[in-house]
Amino acid sequence: MNPLELRKKVVELAKKRKLVMLTAYNYPVARILDAVGVDMILVGDSLGMVELGFEDTKHVTMDDMVHHTSAVARGAKKTIIVGDMPIHSDDTPQLGLESARRFIEAGAHAVKIEGNKSEVIKTIMDAGIPVMGHLGYLPQTEADIVRTVRGKKANEAEKMLQDAEDLDKLGVFSIVLESIPKKLAGKITKAVEAPTIGIGAGINCNGQVLVINDLLGMDESGHKAKYVKLYAQLETIIKEAVQRFVDDVRKRRYPDEEHTYH
Ligand code: KIV
Repeated sequence: MNPLELRKKVVELAKKRKLVMLTAYNYPVARILDAVGVDMILVGDSLGMVELGFEDTKHVTMDDMVHHTSAVARGAKKTIIVGDMPIHSDDTPQLGLESARRFIEAGAHAVKIEGNKSEVIKTIMDAGIPVMGHLGYLPQTEADIVRTVRGKKANEAEKMLQDAEDLDKLGVFSIVLESIPKKLAGKITKAVEAPTIGIGAGINCNGQVLVINDLLGMDESGHKAKYVKLYAQLETIIKEAVQRFVDDVRKRRYPDEEHTYH
C-alpha cells in the first residue's frame, strides 16, 4: 500500500473504533497478535531493552531490526507491520530511504520515525513507503533513560502541537504520542487528521500501543512506567514451568515411558 492508501485506511478505521498496536519482535508472538486481530504490529527498537538486554534503544542496529522484522513478517500475515527506524538509521534522507527500503524488503509495510525529521520523512514517502510519526518522549535522543512526561511546559506543548501538524501535512499515516499529558494528547488528536496512537498519553488518542513484554509481565526486574498495565505474569509462569522441568529431570521423573521412543 502506498502512503496515501495506508493513511486513508487507518483514518477510516479510526473513525469506527479505537486502534490497537502492540510491539512484537519474533515469530510466535507475531502469530498470536495476528490471530487476535490487532490493527498494527510495531517491531519497536524497544527490542534493545526487552529482548537484547541493553539499557536503552541506542545500541540497536539496522541489522538487528531487519532480523526481527523478518521473523515478525513470517508470523503475521494480515496485520500492518511497522518497522521502527533505529538510532542513526535516518541520519540523512538518503540513509533513511535505504534503511526504510530494508524494512520493506524484510516484510514491513511501513516505518516509524522518532521526531519531526521532515526531510527524511518526505524522502521516504516520496519513494512510496508509508511513515508513522513519533512525538513526546523520544528514547533515541533523550539523555535520561527514565521516562518523564514531555509537554508539560507551555512552550514544549506548543512545539509538539506544531510538530504534529507538520507531520500531518507531510502525510504520515498515524502519530505515536509517548508520555505526554492527556489534555495535550487530546488537543493534538483534534488538530490532526492522522490518527494518534498513545503510550502514556491517556484516553483521548485514537488508539493505544504498549510494549508486549510489559503487558505480559516479562520484565519483573525493570522500571515500570505509570501507564504500564499488567495483563499477565508470564515471567512467573515460565519460571514455575522451568522449575518443574528441572525438578523432574533431577528426580528422574522425566522422561517417563509416555515420552520415550521404543
Ligand atoms: O520501540 C518501541 O517499542 C516504541 C513504542 C514505545 C512506541 O517506539
